Amino acid sequence: MSILEAKQITTTFEKGKVVANDNVNLNIEDGEFFVLLGPSGCGKSTFLRSVAGLEKPDSGEMKLKGEDILDKEPAERDVAMMFQKVTLYPNMNVYDNIAFPLKIKGVDKDKIENEVNKVLDFTQIPEKKYSNVKNLSGGEAQRAMIARVLVQDPQLFLLDEPFSSLDHQLRVHMRKEILKIHKKTGVTILFVTHNQEEAMRLGERIGIMNDGRVEQVGTPKEILREPKNKFVAQFIGHPQINFIEGEMSTKEDKIFLQIDDKSYGPLEKDELNRIPESEKVTLGIRPEKLKIKKGKVKGENKFTSEIELVEDTGKDVYINFSFGDASLQAEVPETEEWKMGEEITFFFDKRDLRLFDENGARIK
Ligand SMILES: Nc1ncnc2c1ncn2[C@@H]1O[C@H](COP(=O)(O)OP(=O)(O)OP(=O)(O)O)[C@@H](O)[C@H]1O
Ligand SMILES: [Mg+2]
Repeated sequence: MSILEAKQITTTFEKGKVVANDNVNLNIEDGEFFVLLGPSGCGKSTFLRSVAGLEKPDSGEMKLKGEDILDKEPAERDVAMMFQKVTLYPNMNVYDNIAFPLKIKGVDKDKIENEVNKVLDFTQIPEKKYSNVKNLSGGEAQRAMIARVLVQDPQLFLLDEPFSSLDHQLRVHMRKEILKIHKKTGVTILFVTHNQEEAMRLGERIGIMNDGRVEQVGTPKEILREPKNKFVAQFIGHPQINFIEGEMSTKEDKIFLQIDDKSYGPLEKDELNRIPESEKVTLGIRPEKLKIKKGKVKGENKFTSEIELVEDTGKDVYINFSFGDASLQAEVPETEEWKMGEEITFFFDKRDLRLFDENGARIK
C-alpha cells in the first residue's frame, strides 16, 4: 500500500517564473526507504516541504494514507520533517529541543526522558544533553535535529539532507543507524540527498530528479543498469559513464554506428526500443565495461588510442584516453602496469552498450 501518493504536483515561485516541481508523480510504499536524489536546485526540498505543508503546490493531488492532505495545515499532517537548514529553538537546550515534539503530544515525562536519551546515544551527542544549542558545532546541531525527528512516531519521516554537515565517519555511522532503525521498526522514510553514494546505499528505491521533474524511479540496480535517459546514466555511477557521439546508419535490418571515422555494428533493429528520427546518437559505456588490450589489436569493432593519464586510487586503476572528441575512462586490472603514452585497443560487448537519441532518451 502507498503511504504517500503525489500526482502531478507542480509548484512554482516568483509568479510562475521558477518551476521548482514540474508535474511530479511519486508513490512511497508503506515501510519503504525511498531516496530522492538530484543535483542542487532540482526541486527536492520543495517537494518535501510540500508534503509537510510548508509550500503550497499550484496544482496536483497528494494523499497520505489515502487521505487528501493539500488543504491540511502542517500540524494536521502526520509527518515529521527534518529541514535542510538548522532550525533548533535557540532559547532551549538540546534536551528540550528534542523533547519538544513529545511534550506537545502530552507524552509522560519518564517516557520522554527515556526516548530522548536513546536518540542522544545513537546520534553520539549524549554529552551535549544540556548544552545551549547556540554552542553546538554544525554537525552537532544537525544530529540534534535528526534526534528531534526520530523521537517522533509519524506515518512518514521526511529527511532533507540530514547528514550534509557530518564528517565522513559520522556520516557512515549515521547511515548504519538509520538503516537499523528502518529495519527494526519498519518506518517509512523519504530521504533527500544529492550524494549518489548515500542514495545507492540507503534507498530501497530511488527517484532521480532533474530540473523539477522526476526522471526515473527504480531500485539502485535498475537505475544503474537500465537508465531511462542520458541524464540518469551520467548522474548515476562512479566514475561516470563514458559518452561517445556517433551517427546511426541502417542497412536493411542492420544498424551501424559511425564513431569518429570507424564503424561499430551491426546491431539488429529489434535490439533497439525504437528507431530515432535523427541519425545522431550517443553511445554510453561504463568505465568498468570497457575492455582494454595493450597495443594495436586488429579486428572488427575494435578501436585504438593512447593512454593520456593513469589514475590509481589504491584500490582500482583507471586509464584515460581520447577517441575522436570523446574523453574516455576505463577500469583496468591493477596486476598489469599501465603507462602514459602507451598504445591500447578498446572494445565492448554489445550488451553493455547504451544508446541515447539526440534528446537524451534511451533507444538501447
Ligand atoms: N521560496 C522560494 N522562492 C523562490 N524560489 C525558490 C524558493 N524556494 C526554492 N526556490 C527555487 O526553486 C528551485 C528548487 O529549489 P529546491 O530548494 O527545492 O532545490 P533542491 O533540490 O532542494 O536543492 P539543494 O540540493 O541545493 O538543496 C531552485 O531554483 C530554487 O532557487
Ligand atoms: Mg534542498
